[in-house]
Amino acid sequence: MKQAELIKILSDGNFHSGEEIGAALGVSRAAVWKKLQKLEAMNIPFNSVKGKGYRLPEAVTLLEEQALFDYGFPQNTFDEITIELSLDSTNNAMMQAAENNVTARKICFAEMQTSGRGRRGRAWVSPFAQNLYFSVLWPFSQGIAAIQGLSLAVGLAVHRAMKELGVNGSGLKWPNDILAEYQGKKAKLGGILIELTGDITDACQVVIGVGLNLDVQIKDQVHIDQAAVGIKQLGVNVDRNKITAIVVSHLVEVLKSFSKTGFAPLKQEWNDADTFCGRDAKLILPSSEIYGKCAGVNEKGELALDTEQGIQMFNAGEVSLRLDALK
Ligand code: BTN
Repeated sequence: MKQAELIKILSDGNFHSGEEIGAALGVSRAAVWKKLQKLEAMNIPFNSVKGKGYRLPEAVTLLEEQALFDYGFPQNTFDEITIELSLDSTNNAMMQAAENNVTARKICFAEMQTSGRGRRGRAWVSPFAQNLYFSVLWPFSQGIAAIQGLSLAVGLAVHRAMKELGVNGSGLKWPNDILAEYQGKKAKLGGILIELTGDITDACQVVIGVGLNLDVQIKDQVHIDQAAVGIKQLGVNVDRNKITAIVVSHLVEVLKSFSKTGFAPLKQEWNDADTFCGRDAKLILPSSEIYGKCAGVNEKGELALDTEQGIQMFNAGEVSLRLDALK
């Protein structure tokens, strides 16, 4: 019996007795008990009530390979698709996978992450089966120069998926945040963490981590250090497998075109989706801050900031862009 089979039974949010679970899975109550203990060790939250049995705190839709394919997830693109119940970080898993195979394309999903990572050393809060957490391992043959603008292209892919899903007010923030207007504020809908391994002048492997908020509940907000929103809060209630299939389809399409022609053909579409264009902003660099008006991106994906010293261009790196609160 696999852990996933047990979770599947509990995923309806109703109570199930040990006896019932054992009968459904064809194992003893003791074996069920062992599996439940393992769930606990994995930090997957579940309730255990004497006389009633076990349940997940609420009903969830689990990611399933067949359901993904039924919703149009791109077949024949990945050499390996994995769906894990819990990982420290899907980016970590794909970075490790890159060490063993330098040419494979892989995708890895986790229902929860115990050490989900964001940009600039931040944590990415990843509660069980509530949002979407995945990483893609994608080989590039021409070194780091060929991936300039990739993080913006990935943001655009997610934005296209939001449009297809009918998420109102989705937009982009340089370099790779997906934002949405919620309760009068710009709130974070998704983020992207790109990491690189291999030879930066030749064949390298890129790990593209995507976190997309589907349901950000008040209990989660307290752990998140910025305004965040899920597509459910924006009025879109769509099956998680369908959302995943749509997001990954757009991502694969963008990755294939980016591998051939880079960011330049995507520039206009990116600028049209830019929520900061024309706004006064502050760019936080590792050791300084620069104020200016956002003026879109160029064909390399560099940000143009109209400063007192004139237009300056910036590379996406360990930088952060904020609206200038003083203006
Ligand atoms: C950001 O700071 O905006 C980037 C967030 C990236 C989060 C995703 S979730 C899946 C993948 N695994 C991680 O540990 N991080 C990325």
